[in-house]
Parts: sequence; structure tokens; C-alpha cells
Amino acid sequence: MEFVELSKSVHDRSSFDCGEPELDRFIRFYAAKHMKAGISTTMLLPDSVPLPDGKYSVRAFYTIAPGSISRKTLPAELAAKLPYYPVPVYLLAQMAVHKKYHNTGLGKITLIKALEHIWAVNAHMRAYAVTVYCLNRQAEQFYLKYGFEYLHKHDGRTGLFLPMNTLAQLFGHTGTEN
Ligand SMILES: CC(C)(COP(=O)(O)OP(=O)(O)OC[C@H]1O[C@@H](n2cnc3c(N)ncnc32)[C@H](O)[C@@H]1OP(=O)(O)O)[C@@H](O)C(=O)NCCC(=O)NCCS
Repeated sequence: MEFVELSKSVHDRSSFDCGEPELDRFIRFYAAKHMKAGISTTMLLPDSVPLPDGKYSVRAFYTIAPGSISRKTLPAELAAKLPYYPVPVYLLAQMAVHKKYHNTGLGKITLIKALEHIWAVNAHMRAYAVTVYCLNRQAEQFYLKYGFEYLHKHDGRTGLFLPMNTLAQLFGHTGTEN
């Protein structure tokens, strides 16, 4: 399955419906603007058949961006090894699957693609972990299943993190030696 960068002229964003209005609004109105502004990258899995207007609807997408956390938000034993200034992370800012494809394994595939993407970037610019802020309890359960751990609450959302060391175990050790 090939995820490609969002393109306004190629992908139909208006038909995306994951059941979570905030995420639908993001892909429809903000994802392309945020890429243009240089603040995040949105990758998506297009449908294989075009719509009558020639555009492709979106089956799933993820959005990633650089971010930072304070060591205070981490468990004490991890915080002890880190500096007092902001700790760099990669933020899994958005991720969703069209509701037509829920419970078909596409969420898992989308998460793995996002983590692979981050792992490739990390080979050039290292960061401590991947973080995600969950919109709801279901999303929280989804990420916990894949080894994310509790960080802290931010704006009423539960923050979770996956240490980069875990990605090293998943995808190989390139980039985190020394
Ligand atoms: C969360 C979401 C991405 C999951 O996608 P999906 O394609 O339905 O998930 P998958 O079919 O790949 O399921 C993967 C695993 O997660 C589990 N899972 C899926 N949805 C779940 C949920 N809501 N709660 C708990 N576990 C869930 C599945 O049982 C499956 O486990 P298994 O491999 O042991 O069978 C999708 O439901 C979605 O887009 N939701 C709306 C948007 C959203 O909330 N995104 C998260 C933003 S923070």
C-alpha cells in the first residue's frame, strides 16, 4: 500500500469521513494549508479508482510534525536522563481511517507507515520519542495496544509517547547507535 503526500489537485478531501468531525475538518480544510505553511506533512492512502471528476478519495491519512516536550511530563526514571530544556520529539499530529474501512486493519497499517516515516527522518535528525494526543478514549486504547505509554494530559487530551528505542527494535538499529 503506497502512502503519498497530500495534493489538493489530486485528492478529494471533501468526501473523507472518519466519524470524528475534528479530524474530518483537518483533512478537508487545514492539512494542505499547514503543509504550505511548512508546519506539518500529511501522507495519505488514496482510493484506487478515481471519482467522476478525476480526483481520488482518501482511505486513510497521517500527519506528522516536529515537536518538543518537557522532561517533567515523562516518567521520573526517564526524565532523570534528560536535560531541563525542551526535549525534541516527533508528533503524530493526526491520523484517521475513512469509516468505510474501520476494523479492516487499515488503522494498524497507517500507524506503521507513520512510524516508518518518522524512523526514516530520525536517521537524519534524532528525537527522543513519538508523541500523540488522543481525541477520545478509543484512540487512546488503539495506541496503547501498540506500546505507547502515558505522558500527561494537555488541553484535556491524553498524551502518549513511544520511545525512539522502541522504533529501533521494530525497524532496525540504524540511526540510534552511539
Ligand atoms: C482509531 C482508528 C484509526 C482505527 O482504525 P481501524 O482501521 O478501525 O483499526 P484496525 O482495523 O487497524 O485495528 C487495529 C487494532 O486496533 C483495534 N482497534 C480498532 N479500533 C479500536 C478502538 N476504537 N478501540 C480500541 N481498539 C481498537 C482493533 O481491534 C485491532 O486490534 P487487533 O489487531 O488485535 O484485532 C479509526 O477508528 C479512526 O480513524 N477513528 C476516528 C479517528 C480517530 O479517533 N483517530 C485517532 C486520533 S487521536
